[in-house]
Formats: sequence, C-alpha cells, structure tokens
Amino acid sequence: LTASAVLDRAFVVGPVRPRTFGTFVEHLGRCVYQGVYEPTHPTADEAGFRTDVLELVRELGTSTVRYPGGNFVSGYRWEDGVGPVGQRPARLDLAWHSTDPNTFGVDEFMAWAKKAGVEPMMAINLGTRGVQEALDLLEYCNVPGGSHFADMRRANGAEDPYRIKMWCLGNEMDGPWQIGHKTAHEYGRLAAETARAMRMIDPDLELVACGSSNAHMPTFGEWEATVLREAYEHVDYISAHAYYYEDDGDLASFLASAVDMDYFVDSVAATADYVRAARKQSKRVHISFDEWNVWYQRRAESRPPTGDDWPVAPVLLEDRYNVADAVVVGNLLISLLRHTDRVHAASLAQLVNVIAPIMTESSAGTAGRAWRQTTFHPFSLTARHATGEVLQPAVTAPPVSTARFGDVPAVDLVATREPETGEAALFVVNRSTTEPVGLEVDVRSLGSARLVEALTLSNLDHTWQASADDATSVLPRPNGTAALADGGLSVELPPVSWTVVRLA
Ligand code: AHR
Repeated sequence: LTASAVLDRAFVVGPVRPRTFGTFVEHLGRCVYQGVYEPTHPTADEAGFRTDVLELVRELGTSTVRYPGGNFVSGYRWEDGVGPVGQRPARLDLAWHSTDPNTFGVDEFMAWAKKAGVEPMMAINLGTRGVQEALDLLEYCNVPGGSHFADMRRANGAEDPYRIKMWCLGNEMDGPWQIGHKTAHEYGRLAAETARAMRMIDPDLELVACGSSNAHMPTFGEWEATVLREAYEHVDYISAHAYYYEDDGDLASFLASAVDMDYFVDSVAATADYVRAARKQSKRVHISFDEWNVWYQRRAESRPPTGDDWPVAPVLLEDRYNVADAVVVGNLLISLLRHTDRVHAASLAQLVNVIAPIMTESSAGTAGRAWRQTTFHPFSLTARHATGEVLQPAVTAPPVSTARFGDVPAVDLVATREPETGEAALFVVNRSTTEPVGLEVDVRSLGSARLVEALTLSNLDHTWQASADDATSVLPRPNGTAALADGGLSVELPPVSWTVVRLA
C-alpha cells in the first residue's frame, strides 16, 4: 500500500501546548502508595519519594499532573492528608473500596511535583462536599498567610503559597458511579457557584468544569450544553475523558480509536461554541482532555475489592500494555495535537502502576524495580520532539475497514515545526493490521536540509508486552527506510506501527 501527504508551513493549527503532555496521579491502587511514594524503598529520598520513579517521570516528559482523583476525589477530605503524619486518620475510600492511610496528601504531592518539575492540576471534591471546602483548600494552597488555612499550611512547613493555577471542579459528575453524582443542572449550578467564589480569592485561576465521562454516555452533548449554560462565564475549560481497548479481538477498530477521540473533541467544541453564541459571550471555553488512555476495564485487575476487604494500596487497574496499545496511545496524541486549537490541556491517565506508562515493583519481597511500559515511548518521544507549532498535513491514504468506524485512512499523521529554527517532527501511525504502507510526504515548504532521525515502534508480534524482566526487546528503533530527497520524504511504515521522523 502507498500513501501520500503534503505538509506546508502555512498549515498552522496553533501552538504546541506543553500542557498536552499532562498525566494523572490518583489515590488509587498502587499509584501513590508503592508508586510515587514508598518510604521503605531503597531509592526513597528523605520525603519517602521513590527517586527511581522520579527519574522515569522526568524522562517521560510530562508537564502537568492532575491530583488526587479521579473517582477518589469525590469522597476525599483533604484535611485528613495534612499535618503531622502520625496524627492523620486512615479513611475508607469508597470509590476503590480501599483504605487510605493519608500518609501522602496535598503537601507531599506539592513537594513531589516540585521535585518532578511538573505543574500541579488540583481537583476538588464536589461529590460529598461543596463551595466551602473548595475555598478552604484554595486558601490552604494559594493564600500567603494571615488566615486560618494559609497559616495551617505554613505551620505544616510550606512557608510560601503554592499558587496552583489549574483546578478541576469535581470529577465525572455525570457518571452514576460517582459519589455524589448529580444531574447536569445540579452540577452546573454547583460548578458555577464554586468557581465564582474561588475567583473571589484568586481571579486568575484556570477552572475546569466536568464534561462527559465519555462520548457514549446517554447524556453526552446535553450534559455539556446544560453545564455550560449555567457556568460558561465562570470557567475556562470543559473536561473530556476517554478510554479505549481492543474489544473481542477487534484490532482494526481498536487501532482506529483516534477517530472516536476526533469526534469527541469536535462535538464538545461545537457544543461549547453553541453555548457561547446563545449566551452572547466573546470568550471561548476550551477542552481539558484530562483523562485518556488505553484501559482494559473488563479485566479482573480493574475490579475493586468487596465486602469487609478494604486493603491499603491493592493491585488495581495494573494493565500491561502491548505494542498495539502503544500505537494507539501514539495515535491519540496525534489527535490531541491536531486539535491544539481547542484542546488546551490533557492528562494521560495515569502515571504510575494504575493504567500507567511507568510500573513499579514494591520493595517488599521483590527486586523493587521501576520499568517502562510500551506506551511510555510514544508519549516521551512526542513530548520531547513536538515543539513550536502544530501543522495539519493534507493526507491521501488507502482505507482500512473497521467494524466500529467504517473505512478509516490507514495512515494518520500530524507534524510540528519550530518557526525560528525550522526543526520539524512528523508523528505517524500505520493502522493497517497486515499491510506495510509506503508513505511519501511533500515537505518542500518546510525547507528542511536533512533527516535527523526516524524511529519506529512495531513488532512482528504486536501483542508483545514489556515487563520488569524485559522492558527493552521492543523499543522504537531507527527506521532505515526513511529518506529525504528533493523536498520529498519517504518512509516505509510496518503494519501496526508508530513512527516519529525528525527534520532540520
Ligand atoms: O482513571 C481511572 C478512573 O477512570 C478515574 O478515577 C475516573 O475519573 C475514571 O472513570
């Protein structure tokens, strides 16, 4: 099969936004405890943070980290997680049927975020709590001192305010599984009033209202419209969440998951713009795609404990990712980048152990290693090489037929370019399950003099998974077929593959 594309430096969608490369740390399973935080681990620093994990987080290149949930946040009392550790109460976490020892809380997270070099994105509980508790947490985090909660933070060792900019007004409040689930109208009112009050403390916050938990919720569309009719003036973003998995061996549809993400983003942007018009507003509400990933929700590891079993840090949602999963993650990033005009922030869910690119063994009874899943690589390479502006290519590609989405183009790609230096990167997937595709791209307008590097992630067996023992047999490898001549870039794309090509 062959495919062609034309790239022009004038086809600019918008800037590459660092916040596109956010991730997520939830009090869920072994994400916090035994993931980012394990005081007994040999690599733990004085604060109990695993430095082996911190190194991988930096290598991953994540920009923002959303915290502390997720479903967890809808029952969370943030006050439980601050102050002397010995005096903090253990609490039942109803969302994941676990016990939270609260030895890691807001102050630990902020200290960890500083060490990791990431921007925090704080979520507040609008499930069991409301306006007052959101204000208390905001005061604790962002007010310099002289009032009760600000002074409490200082007494707890953080003299300077954290000045957290981005705040999520609850989590997935459209979902019947959510503690304190609300109708769109109820939630829209609460989000508006919470946002209005929070801005009385700090008018410059960036606030995210909950959109739908996925594009297939029965209330999708109406939820966004109703929430924004209530809260449009008070918020900056509406959230989107989406998880994909290979269903019943339907690899072709799975590889086309980005078609669903494209539809989701386009639909939410259109709905937000409809409310903008109806409410005669000039500002635009953008999208925070603050949960996205591959997640095999039907696997046993995704099911929380039951009955009287309320464990601390159980193994939950510890999906092992294969090569096809990594190709889909790479393609979802392509979708997020091509929507950089509307998606202004995004979070891969999650960061460590729980549907995560980084996995750890605990130091109890194992070697205590930290390792990279297959999905780590397209994320880190895209985060590293997508800089400057996003360019939308015109692509002609043969169709592959899928049960879920009909015919979709076998090749999907997006490019980025630094206007000053002319350095460019193309991110490409071949979604054919069987056929290699020869891709020719007209890059004359970019004026590139040389091919810097072409790396491809693929494997004859696309079900290959990394593990603690072997995380390196299948890595993105130099693609020797890539060539640049007379303004034409050519490259062979193996079936089920993700590729980055860099030009200078
Ligand atoms: O990321 C796992 C869970 O997925 C989150 O807690 C929730 O927000 C979503 O349903």
